[in-house]
Amino acid sequence: MDRKYWEKIAPEYNEEIFDVLKNDSKGLIVSAIRSTASPNKTAIDIGCAIGKWLPVLSPIFKKVHAVDISAENLEIAKKLYPQLRNVEYDRIDMSDPKAKMPLCDVGVCINAILTDSLKKRNVFFTNLKKCIKKNGHLILVIPSLESSMLTSIIRMRWNPDKDANGVIKKNKSSFQLKNILQGNAEIDNVPTKHYLKEELQLLLGKEGFKTGDFQKIEYNWNTEFLNPPKWLTEPKPWDWMVMAKKL
Ligand SMILES: C[S@@+](CC[C@H](N)C(=O)[O-])C[C@H]1O[C@@H](n2cnc3c(N)ncnc32)[C@H](O)[C@@H]1O
Repeated sequence: MDRKYWEKIAPEYNEEIFDVLKNDSKGLIVSAIRSTASPNKTAIDIGCAIGKWLPVLSPIFKKVHAVDISAENLEIAKKLYPQLRNVEYDRIDMSDPKAKMPLCDVGVCINAILTDSLKKRNVFFTNLKKCIKKNGHLILVIPSLESSMLTSIIRMRWNPDKDANGVIKKNKSSFQLKNILQGNAEIDNVPTKHYLKEELQLLLGKEGFKTGDFQKIEYNWNTEFLNPPKWLTEPKPWDWMVMAKKL
């Protein structure tokens, strides 16, 4: 999941990439963002892609920095939201140790730290620290490893979509095991970092953030299976959201 990957996906972003804003049916992320907002504060949308969160952020902050590794994504966002005058678009690679980010009061980072490269993730987390002011807030949404494991277990036990191979592909099993032991589970055949709640707590703590409550952003089972059985209701699959304060 490097820059090339995200540039290639940009033109078909809406078809290819899951829409967290649309699927957060309880509006928990919008509420969290609103609770930190003020017309005197600046915000940074880290990994903004084609800018779905910009109409939420722009009216409630003084200025919004929309940041993404993909120039193509940023071009699309600019064209979609010409009316949002207080948004500045910056192409920044958050996994670059030399990246220069604006310093903001509030950071929003929604399903952007997905790379299976530990080295890139380490720099990304350190850069999160660098772009948020002391006493500022970070709202982080991230794929849940617990949820991904629950989906795997359901697939192995009941196989709702009648997958011939189940979860573990025999010819790739050692590669998959190595991946899963690091929390890299495949989404559409792409190894994607998923996080345990306690792992996120540790990672953010090491970067000088105090984490608040973790909340589940829940989705329907048809986001995981083509044919979820009727009895499969609760628990639902989820991403983790946490609001963290920069100490
Ligand atoms: C799954 S999309 C999420 C987009 C958006 N936050 C949303 O919720 O609609 C992940 C985005 O993160 C961006 N991204 C991935 N790695 C990045 C990096 N190292 N620096 C900046 N952006 C990155 C990608 O280009 C992509 O647009």
